[in-house]
Amino acid sequence: MTFFRDLKTLLQLALPIRGNTHQQRLENFYGKQADNYDVFRRRLLHGREPLWQSIEIPEGGRWVDFGGGTGANVENIADKLNRLERLEIVDLSASLLQVADRRIADRGWRNVVTHCRDVTTFTPDAPVDIVTFSYSLTMIPDWFAAVENALRILKPGGTIGVVDFYVSRKYPAESHRRHGPLTRSFWPTWFAKDNVFLSPDHLPYLESKCESSELHEDRGGLPFVPLLTVPYYRFVGKKPLPVKTQFTEGGSSQTRQQNALKGAVCETNHCSAELCP
Ligand SMILES: C[S@@+](CC[C@H](N)C(=O)[O-])C[C@H]1O[C@@H](n2cnc3c(N)ncnc32)[C@H](O)[C@@H]1O
Repeated sequence: MTFFRDLKTLLQLALPIRGNTHQQRLENFYGKQADNYDVFRRRLLHGREPLWQSIEIPEGGRWVDFGGGTGANVENIADKLNRLERLEIVDLSASLLQVADRRIADRGWRNVVTHCRDVTTFTPDAPVDIVTFSYSLTMIPDWFAAVENALRILKPGGTIGVVDFYVSRKYPAESHRRHGPLTRSFWPTWFAKDNVFLSPDHLPYLESKCESSELHEDRGGLPFVPLLTVPYYRFVGKKPLPVKTQFTEGGSSQTRQQNALKGAVCETNHCSAELCP
């Protein structure tokens, strides 16, 4: 039975993706495989369980999962879910969110909700403690905007957790893994067919915007593709705390310089008037 379901998923992965908008293309891709999504992706999307389990959950905290799909990742913290005030799954695919909604109802998770929204613009009703991207960053065309938005909605000091496929830069930072030319060209080409864009820049960008607290680089296998392994990473970081200054508007040129600096710090921390304290 699983074999035939897998065959259906493989066929779907091989077909061209149609649609005029990003949302239409996602729905065209996921619509017919939504029911078998979890079974197939369990063997493809590595490192999700350790990422979710490694994230510290503050009592009464709020967690937003960007590109959360079927909500399967929530199972990884089911025993700690009651610590959260709310967990919000944001995704543009209505078919995958239907699976998530069924799961939420079946499990009786009263503090988990779904939103069919674009993660580059989603705004919760209050700043949050945790934002996660599990294999979604590679599928978001404007991934800069997605990371910027995650940092905008996070409280200062809040946690950002990412797990995804990637390839290294030709000359990565010290202590990071370096992939050979074949890996760096083969995997981005393989996945681009399904609108999954592996990048050498996701990880360096995250590290430049967050205080990195955990990085794990590894490789994992693919269903029905013996011997080959694809690189993936797990990253956990913190949104930097704003630097406190006691300077007010106007005044001496020294004060103005310090206020300009304060503005720069604010920008770096992505504070927004409506969300950041
Ligand atoms: C590979 S799936 C990962 C799903 C889930 N996080 C998991 O680990 O199984 C990528 C998800 O990102 C979603 N996605 C892509 N671009 C998006 C966007 N701009 N806004 C919201 N969701 C998006 C897709 O619909 C899909 O559910």
